Order: sequence, then structure tokens, then C-alpha cells
Amino acid sequence: MDAETLRQYLEYYQDLGIKTLYRRGPAAKAEEAGHGERWPAPQEPLFRILEDIGDCHRCRLHEQRTKIVFGVGNEQSKLVFVGEGPGADEDAQGIPFVGRAGQLLTQMIEGTAKKEGIPLLRKDVYICNVVKCRPPENRTPQPDEMEICGQFLSRQLLAIAPKAICALGSTAAKFLTQSKEGVTRMRGNWYKWHDIPVMVTYHPSYLLRAYNVGPKREAWEDLKKVLHFVYD
Ligand code: URA
Repeated sequence: MDAETLRQYLEYYQDLGIKTLYRRGPAAKAEEAGHGERWPAPQEPLFRILEDIGDCHRCRLHEQRTKIVFGVGNEQSKLVFVGEGPGADEDAQGIPFVGRAGQLLTQMIEGTAKKEGIPLLRKDVYICNVVKCRPPENRTPQPDEMEICGQFLSRQLLAIAPKAICALGSTAAKFLTQSKEGVTRMRGNWYKWHDIPVMVTYHPSYLLRAYNVGPKREAWEDLKKVLHFVYD
């Protein structure tokens, strides 16, 4: 790769907010030997990103994980849901949002779509998280973990290029919008991630708490807004 191409790649990653880049072992060696690319190309397929994650040891979250939870759903989806990070069920199965919060998310997507006359199932959208490994005791991911792992989310979003993104809860909202506001103030409003509209709403785990009846109604409103924006 010549210096100019390398400069363009670095600029591209800088625009994504990615400050730390890692050399991949085999690919870097291949490049040194004169074949292969050191940097993944823009518009890369999702499997390349997964390959790049590999058996990731880039941050401390790898220490207690069972499975890396990359993402699931339609890779050409016009809508991507972004959560915080895997919980116990997701860590065991390697699939995002399969526990109680996930079941609620599925109900919310499919129930709202049906009510609004939009033919849409969970499998038609794409679902992923800011961090791909379960934080111990389901704690909030730390800023360095979000920065290191977030580069893969950014690459997933660029690869899918959806019409809109729905940020579930404060970790996803913070990562995607860089806003320091709380979710209560942000929800129901549109933001942007690299020109892609982002709707912020509550995290389904928060909605599972029985007393959060008001927020539940609000989350349904938010979802209605995003579904109509994307599918009308
Ligand atoms: N909570 C999340 O944020 N993501 C999951 O995948 C599951 C629960």
C-alpha cells in the first residue's frame, strides 16, 4: 500500500472517531510479504469485521466472556438496533438480545410493526451492541472498552448503511451521539451518526421494571416514529 492510500485510510478511520488501530497478525505478515491488505477497505462485508475481531483480547472484557456477541439479523436492513453489551444469556449463546430484555425488544419490534401495518419481524432488522463481550456482573462498559470495541460497531454500521439507527439506552446513545444528556431528555428525538439519523429510546431492561409504565408507553411512541420513518 502506498503512502497516499494509507493516508486516506487513516483519515477515514479518524472521521469515524477511531483513534486506535491494531495491526492484525496474519494480514500484517501477508502485507509485509507483499500480498494482502493491512487495512480493511471501506464498505467491507460484515464477515471481514468478524474475522478481524477474531479471538479478541484487545480489552479486559475478554477475560470473563464465553462467546463474542457480534450481531444478528438482516445485513441489508434499513434499521439497526444498538444495545449496550451482552448479558448472561447472550454471552452463553453468542446472540444479542435473547434474554428477557431481548424478548421484550422482539415483542416491541414485532408488536408495534404489526399494529402500525408494517410487515416486519425481528429477523428483518439488524441487532448489535456497543461492546461485544459481556461486562462482568452486567456493569456499564467503561470508556476505554467502548472506544476499543466501538470501532467494530462503527464498521458494522458503515457496512450495513441503514436508513436509521435506534439507540437503546444511555450507553448506545452516548456512543452514537457523543451527547452527555441523559436518556430521559434524549428519547424521542433524532440525532445523527455520520449522516445516519439516530432515534434514542429507553433500554428494554429498564422497561422490564414493572413500575416504569410511563417510559414503556414512551418507548412504544419512539419505536413507532422510527418504524414509520424507515418503512413508510
Ligand atoms: N442488553 C444489551 O444491551 N444487549 C444485549 O444483547 C442484551 C441485553
